[in-house]
Amino acid sequence: MSTKQRLRIAIQKSGRLYQSSLDLLAARGLIFLPNGRSLINPCANRPIDLLYLRDDDIPEYVERGIADLGIVGENVLAEKGRMLPIVSRLDFGICRLVIAAPQNSDIWRPQDLVGRRIATSYPKLLAAYLEKENVKACIVPISGSAEITPRLGLADAVCDIVQTGATLKAHDLVPLFTVMESQAVLVKSPTESTRKEEFLPLFTKVLL
Ligand code: PRP
Ligand code: ZN
Repeated sequence: MSTKQRLRIAIQKSGRLYQSSLDLLAARGLIFLPNGRSLINPCANRPIDLLYLRDDDIPEYVERGIADLGIVGENVLAEKGRMLPIVSRLDFGICRLVIAAPQNSDIWRPQDLVGRRIATSYPKLLAAYLEKENVKACIVPISGSAEITPRLGLADAVCDIVQTGATLKAHDLVPLFTVMESQAVLVKSPTESTRKEEFLPLFTKVLL
């Protein structure tokens, strides 16, 4: 069978959603054996390839039909402004996008952010929040590891995802304001594909 005929499912290659995504696929009877550092993993019992991607890239792959299905956070879909068809809301990855600041900061209200530097990999969602609150702050765009920036002097606050709270805590940051609530969702490509439709019942039957 050629690669093109195989269903492709994109998941986060590491991070909050990785293990739960694998667990979901395993619960649907799909067997993926450990395959070292390869970013593509053929399913052992079905014509499916698993793609391990950065979560931020998943919407692009799915929108273009390179991946037929993707498991990604609503936070990423919203930041990328993608309206991909959602097959199911999943029962994991429940989190908030928050503005957080160091324990000892003097930021108490959104207005206290005026003139402050906020590091984030969610610049669009943060900009919309600041506009709604009528706050003029300086957004410092970064690709990740926002939590380290206040300690290093790059920013006064961060806007990042909090799920268990462990990462914020490890950096002495306190969540202050919620920008968005989010969870993991299964999205499908808007492009036509018989194989995709054939596999969809596998994900919708039990989850509904
Ligand atoms: C987010 C965030 C933190 C982590 C927080 O990363 O950037 O690294 O989750 O989770 P915690 O509150 O449970 O410690 P995510 O996996 O969403 O993706 P990213 O690495 O692409 O930012
Ligand atoms: Zn990311």
